[in-house]
Amino acid sequence: MSNPSEPNFLVLGAGVIGLTTALALREEYPTAPIQIVAKHFPGDRSIEYTSPWAGANWCSFAHDNGPLEKYDEVTFRKFEQLLQEEGESTGLGKMGLRGVFDGPIEEADILTEETGNIWYKDLVGGITPLSQKDLPKGANFGLDFKATFRINTQVHLQWLQHRALTTGISLHRAHTPSLTSLTTLFPHTSLILNCSALGSLHLTDVHDTNVYPTRGQTILIAEPEVPVQRMYIRTPKRISPECTYVFPRPLGGGVILGGSREDGNWSGEVDWKLAGEILERCVELAPELGSVEEVRERVVSHNVGLRPSRKGGVRVELDRLHNGVPVVHNYGHSGAGYQSSWGTAYRVLELVKEALGPRAKL
Ligand SMILES: Cc1cc2nc3c(=O)[nH]c(=O)nc-3n(C[C@H](O)[C@H](O)[C@H](O)COP(=O)(O)OP(=O)(O)OC[C@H]3O[C@@H](n4cnc5c(N)ncnc54)[C@H](O)[C@@H]3O)c2cc1C
Ligand SMILES: *[C@@H]1O[C@H](CO)[C@@H](O)[C@H](O)[C@H]1NC(C)=O
Ligand SMILES: *[C@@H]1O[C@H](CO)[C@@H](O)[C@H](O)[C@H]1NC(C)=O
Repeated sequence: MSNPSEPNFLVLGAGVIGLTTALALREEYPTAPIQIVAKHFPGDRSIEYTSPWAGANWCSFAHDNGPLEKYDEVTFRKFEQLLQEEGESTGLGKMGLRGVFDGPIEEADILTEETGNIWYKDLVGGITPLSQKDLPKGANFGLDFKATFRINTQVHLQWLQHRALTTGISLHRAHTPSLTSLTTLFPHTSLILNCSALGSLHLTDVHDTNVYPTRGQTILIAEPEVPVQRMYIRTPKRISPECTYVFPRPLGGGVILGGSREDGNWSGEVDWKLAGEILERCVELAPELGSVEEVRERVVSHNVGLRPSRKGGVRVELDRLHNGVPVVHNYGHSGAGYQSSWGTAYRVLELVKEALGPRAKL
């Protein structure tokens, strides 16, 4: 029997954001009923479910000297703790990263304006400029990050789900037409967490027309005989359609080659011309991958994912349904859902406490 004085949480969405949010709730409310309702769960592969398709790594886009930097910092530190306590079975690993930039540093969107610094320099164990001889042809400057996170998304999502199950969080597969109808299906709900990403397409409650997809394509290849020793990114600036990246995944998870960015395109079809270009760009950036022909033979899959983007950025906000049930929104993470997962989830916790008032916490 559940304790009637305990809040009853309903999390909509089982991507990295819904799962992480549910685990953050569990840390604060050790015995409260928490239920995750979603159409897709870890193991599913659908264009409507973005999380499996991420690269993924931690390389902050934030330079606001504010909440966005904070989300990423909190996540980095939490990843560190999880890796130390539970090792790579979390799907998290660390590795050096080489960033190569084709434009001047002032235009690369990596410096925090107020300080003129790269805010995460110490977090990643130091950043060293690349010498001229190590710069590829045409590049403007390069930076070596000592060590940052790389994520085997397949393993990390399963790990989050397993942790949810072993801490008494229940899972319920359903496609809900609206948040309000969830409160009919689960009448004891005291608070809803809206972690539905691009699910706005299907929710009939007040549509957030600021939400749109940013289509991204990648290639997963099998590990070369000599494992790749670092991650690579090459780009004119931090967020760019021309960003090329090579992320070896932990736990022998192969290597992800990317990428692309196209705003407003919902297509889940592989663009084969683009796939060929990605492959060539990656081989040029990381010649240790082998020749284009050799890499082609190691292709495991071609992948398309839709980053849940939002005009105005990620929405972490307290709101209320017409029937009075409070909702905390946590969606619109675009290309940063992994690297900001714990930071946004802990911000959600603060809003949950605000909504429920001091008495709700036992
Ligand atoms: C190519 C690519 C590379 C990326 N690289 C990185 C990276 O390096 N680092 C990084 O941090 N991020 C990266 N990302 C971004 C990251 O993948 C996303 O930010 C993140 O996966 C978003 O997670 P989410 O939980 O919000 O959404 P999703 O994973 O899409 O989950 C949404 C959930 O809501 C459920 N849902 C929605 N509507 C309904 C409904 N009406 N009824 C029931 N269930 C519903 C879905 O079934 C699903 O469970 C990348 C993304 C792409 C595509
Ligand atoms: C829930 O989130 C979606 C985005 O996924 C948004 O469009 C929708 O408006 C939110 N629901 C409510 C009731 O605010
Ligand atoms: C969306 O992307 C697909 C695959 O690259 C492409 O074929 C299609 O033309 C694009 N659609 C639009 C509207 O641009």
